[in-house]
Amino acid sequence: MSVHKEVKVVTTQVFQNMKNNGEKIAMLTSYDYSIARLVDQAGIDAILVGDSAANVMLGHHTTLPITVDEMIFFAQSVVKAAKRAMVVVDMPFGSYQGDAHLALKNAVRIMKETGCQAVKIEGGKEIEESYKAILSAGIPIMAHLGLTPQSINKFGGYALRATEDAEAQLLIENAKLVEQLGCFSVVLEKIPASLAKKVTEMLSIPTIGIGAGNVCDGQILVFQDMIGINDEFKPKFLRRYADLSTIIKSAVGNYVTDVKAGDYPNEEESY
Ligand code: KIV
Repeated sequence: MSVHKEVKVVTTQVFQNMKNNGEKIAMLTSYDYSIARLVDQAGIDAILVGDSAANVMLGHHTTLPITVDEMIFFAQSVVKAAKRAMVVVDMPFGSYQGDAHLALKNAVRIMKETGCQAVKIEGGKEIEESYKAILSAGIPIMAHLGLTPQSINKFGGYALRATEDAEAQLLIENAKLVEQLGCFSVVLEKIPASLAKKVTEMLSIPTIGIGAGNVCDGQILVFQDMIGINDEFKPKFLRRYADLSTIIKSAVGNYVTDVKAGDYPNEEESY
């Protein structure tokens, strides 16, 4: 029996049940009310208010500039729209690293001011104290390992991670650690499918993959990428489910033509 069909509201326990029942978890990002409403109605299990909002919504080159205030602003509108999906909010760069008290303070702010169900943070052992502080307040955490975009300046690019034994071993240790600390799930971004399989089989909590093969317990994509709004981003892992950039440009072009020609509005469209 599908967990998905029975569930009225997706909780962290539902995530676990899905893994236990072998049912895949489907996640997408959203950053605003209108899209989150459609994504929720279409049956997504969880919505991530990703710090990819920095790129997608604010036009920054990396995720680093986005602030806690901006994440809260986006998340508040998504939470209003999500009736069934769990809403997870990314903690932005600088809001949880190196200071466990600050991490707790910011996580509490995000939970209180948005009404979301969980937060996501990037990293393993190096932010262990932040994991502990946030979890101690009863706040569910989705961990994020592999290509962690907030560390882009350390990595020097968005290439596949953990291709060498040492980094793969570190990722395995960090995956074990976040499970042992009490995270309810972990995102594995842009790592070899064979490594994601190993981690997924090793952990009892669900893994959510992006560019990590299809053995993960769930998948996540950035909404604007999978719907073809961002037509410049074409990584190998991305499957486009629509070509919205063409549709939008054509619709806007037709509107411009009609307005210029004095054809819009016509009599039927006037009062
Ligand atoms: O910010 C984001 O959208 C993410 C996903 C790509 C996992 O972290």
